[in-house]
Amino acid sequence: MTLSDKPHFFTRHVIVLRFFYLFMREWLNEKEKEMKVVAFNGSARKDGNTAILVNAVFKELKKQHIKTELVQLAGKKIRGCTACRKCFENQDKRCAVKGDIVNDCIEKMLEADGIILASPTYFADISPELKALIDRSGFVAKANQDMFKRKVGAAVIAVRRAGAIHAFDTINHFFFISQMVVPGSSYWNVGLGLAPGDVNSDDEGIITMKTLGANMAWLMKKIQE
Ligand SMILES: Cc1cc2nc3c(=O)[nH]c(=O)nc-3n(C[C@H](O)[C@H](O)[C@H](O)COP(=O)(O)O)c2cc1C
Repeated sequence: MTLSDKPHFFTRHVIVLRFFYLFMREWLNEKEKEMKVVAFNGSARKDGNTAILVNAVFKELKKQHIKTELVQLAGKKIRGCTACRKCFENQDKRCAVKGDIVNDCIEKMLEADGIILASPTYFADISPELKALIDRSGFVAKANQDMFKRKVGAAVIAVRRAGAIHAFDTINHFFFISQMVVPGSSYWNVGLGLAPGDVNSDDEGIITMKTLGANMAWLMKKIQE
């Protein structure tokens, strides 16, 4: 290499390094963008209090560039587990009962890094629609080596007065037996309200959801690292 070649040599290296840096930056951004949380609202009432609480969690997730999708079960066809155990025979990550939305929901759960299961309190427990989703997706997950393992899970509950903790526990039982990871918040993830929109007046409930969203994002990023 002659002295006159030297500048070209350095320029070439600077250009290569610059391309490498830009590629890595894009790649890291892409990785971050890829993260997604899917939420299932088990309420019979679309866009009611449960949906409002989920959207408060979503707001924080979005701030952290995490994609979100809300699936509202209201009005959708969904039935309970038939205990046919075909999921254990087939081991195809699908429920053998066809003709309702469960397999679509399972697919969304598999694709997501985080899963929110949200429900109003009905007689001190979750709605039958959400319980159907838990029973069927939970059994399919068990039949397929705990296929939701180490995804982040969070329960969200709307309640008028009492029974929310029992409903909250029902959902957490699903997460824990599925080997999922559950972030906490500043209180149990509960918002108070009766008529649609009432939860907006429950300041502590909304703060709890925001904190949950921030903690969920933090945990998902840690797991991704
Ligand atoms: C069938 C049914 C049962 C309910 N049971 C309870 C209950 O046990 N405890 C309670 O505090 N509220 C109960 N509620 C009130 C709802 O939990 C409350 O209105 C909640 O905010 C509804 O959320 P949503 O707007 O997302 O449907 C019940 C409502 C219905 C329709």
